[in-house]
Parts: sequence; C-alpha cells; structure tokens
Amino acid sequence: MTQQLSLDSSALTVITSLEEAAAAASVCQACSLCKTRQQVVFADGNPNARLMIVGEGPGQREDELGLPFVGRAGQLLDKILASVNIDRQKDTYICNMVKCRPPGNRVPSKDEMEACRSFLEAQIEFVKPKLIVLAGSTAVQGVLQVKDPISRIRGKWFDIANGAKVMPVFHPSYLLRNESREVGSPKWLMWQDIKEIRRALDALDN
Ligand code: URA
Repeated sequence: MTQQLSLDSSALTVITSLEEAAAAASVCQACSLCKTRQQVVFADGNPNARLMIVGEGPGQREDELGLPFVGRAGQLLDKILASVNIDRQKDTYICNMVKCRPPGNRVPSKDEMEACRSFLEAQIEFVKPKLIVLAGSTAVQGVLQVKDPISRIRGKWFDIANGAKVMPVFHPSYLLRNESREVGSPKWLMWQDIKEIRRALDALDN
C-alpha cells in the first residue's frame, strides 16, 4: 500500500516502502530542526518486529550516532527490555516522534511534530507492528492525540486504526530521575508495564 507523504509545501512524494521513507527523511527540510541537526535519526532494530517503541526525539548522543535511544535513557531502555528477554535489535523497531534533535533537548513543538508525522505514519504502515509502546507524553500526544497525564494512562492498552495495540509507559529519562524502586514508584510501575508487554507478546503466539 502507498503512503502519501507531504515533505513540505513544494514537494509531494509518494512513499512505497520503509527504505523510501528513510531516504526521504534523510534529506527532509520540512521544519527548522533540519538546520541544527547533525544527522536524521530514523530508526533502529528490526523492521519486521511485532513490537514498535516510539520515543520523543533524538538527544545529543542520538544526533551524533544517527541512532535512536543510544544515550543514557537508551541504555536503561535496553536493560528494561532485556529484563523480560526482549532483544532490542531482534524483537523491536525503535523510532521517535521527531527524527531530528530539538536544540538543547527541548520538547518538540506541535508544528515540528506535525511536520514529521508522515514519517512515523509510514513506519507504522510498513513495519505493521502488533504492539506499540509510547515512551513518554510527547509520543502519547503525537500518536494517541490525548493530553492525559502519563501517570494516569500508562500501562493501559489503546486501539489505533491500523489494528495495533498501543501502551503508554514512562519515558526512560523520567525513570533516570526517579531512582526509587519501592512499590508504586515509577520504576516499579515500569516493571509492571514491561511484564504486561511481555505477556502481550507471548499471547500473539497463541
Ligand atoms: N529520548 C528519546 O525520546 N528518544 C531518543 O532517541 C533518545 C532519548
């Protein structure tokens, strides 16, 4: 199936594959983030994975290396996944709401998210994940278009149009700022959520 992708007001490109989406993103100038980025950070992991993880946007390390979630937050994410035997490279496809680093790691603006939306839509269209995990409120607002606090909706499954089940979770950066592992703490809640994600993955096999 083809995905209509509007890169900017002067160019309309028809995207027919993930590779074409990545190529279009690599030269995208649809918003001002293109002026300050070092690299476009499109995705990492397995394009055939049943689990997609969507974060906010690249940070400094991601911008340097051209890969999502490779800084401190990414290392924590890898550990969380590994704790339930989910291998980042084999079992997940990881990307962000926006593909270019917002300067100073600020939250991407609504316009920047809109300018980048077609790339995420193409990723969902062509990867066809069964489960999508939204890490943090920016991804929640971008994908589910709701403003509910993450603390209220994390750990719940939502349905989206393409048939995938979507779960908001705390962003790993937030977990890095909240060290406690006590019952009810963000880290403890993340542990409950990742176990539920593991259960849902296993249920796909049955
Ligand atoms: N935070 C994100 O949301 N995405 C990344 O790729 C890195 C940090």
